[in-house]
Amino acid sequence: MKRLDISAPVLSQQDLGHGILLLAILAPEIAKAALPGQFCMLHAGSPETTDPLLRRPFSIHYADGDTIFFLYRVVGKGTRLIAAMRPGDVIRILGPLGCGFSISAETKNILVGGGLGTAPLFFLARSLPREGTTIMLGAKTSGELARADAFLPHAEKVFLSTDDGSLGQHGLVTELLAGHIQRTLCTGFLPLVSACGPWPMVRAVAHLCHINGIPCQVSLEARMACGTGLCLGCAIPRSGGGYLHVCTDGPVLDAALVDWETSQ
Ligand SMILES: Cc1cc2nc3c(=O)[nH]c(=O)nc-3n(C[C@H](O)[C@H](O)[C@H](O)COP(=O)(O)OP(=O)(O)OC[C@H]3O[C@@H](n4cnc5c(N)ncnc54)[C@H](O)[C@@H]3O)c2cc1C
Ligand code: FES
Repeated sequence: MKRLDISAPVLSQQDLGHGILLLAILAPEIAKAALPGQFCMLHAGSPETTDPLLRRPFSIHYADGDTIFFLYRVVGKGTRLIAAMRPGDVIRILGPLGCGFSISAETKNILVGGGLGTAPLFFLARSLPREGTTIMLGAKTSGELARADAFLPHAEKVFLSTDDGSLGQHGLVTELLAGHIQRTLCTGFLPLVSACGPWPMVRAVAHLCHINGIPCQVSLEARMACGTGLCLGCAIPRSGGGYLHVCTDGPVLDAALVDWETSQ
């Protein structure tokens, strides 16, 4: 797999509110090589900058022509520095990294995103046929359902939920999924579920799929220092023993491979 370590110009930085931004970077070779579910390590500033020392991992939101997009939330020092970058500034970018989603156009696809778990799912949605694709997005409140509108052209059905009831169904996105799974199974179809979001949500999705015999792939997050398999800092317990490294075995993993009891 082709992996590049380059300095690339920021094209735009769009503030979507609630501390969420959409970053566009001109990086033709990375954009062309990128697959849905892969990620990049980003670092604001010149290669000599050591503060912060480590790059930060971000899912590829999507790639379009020569441009690669990231949807991210400002949470600490690294993301604050990235958020301060303006068009023309140069960002360090290493990628594309990791294993992405299995893409199956033959089956019905259900994409489930919680919070900024929508980030990698958008690239996947763009890569699937609209027909047979259902998208379920949930967040704490409506303002945090970032770019939900952008999913509409890419799915037959888009369902939204918010914890506070400010948009879509009042409740958790996993409740939406539970109902939808029952309806889908009644039609005789076995869908493929692809999920990304906070760990408890993804674990609940994996459990729902497991008890209903439905294949499920999950995009996981772990603290990452290198992103390339060198530091072993992103290890999570594997079902049946041993470990998986989220950066190289994932970030997208077959949910059946993860030991959900002892992880996180
Ligand atoms: C494969 C992968 C893909 C990711 N994709 C996205 C994305 O598309 N959009 C996005 O906004 N974020 C994404 N993240 C999380 C993102 O990497 C962190 O938010 C970022 O590293 C925080 O850096 P910071 O210096 O601003 O915060 P720090 O100062 O390092 O930390 C601030 C807070 O964020 C928490 N945090 C830091 N890193 C992580 C992490 N990896 N997982 C969970 N919590 C973390 C810390 O515990 C702390 O509470 C992804 C993480 C991984 C591993
Ligand atoms: S982040 Fe270093 S091995 Fe995964």
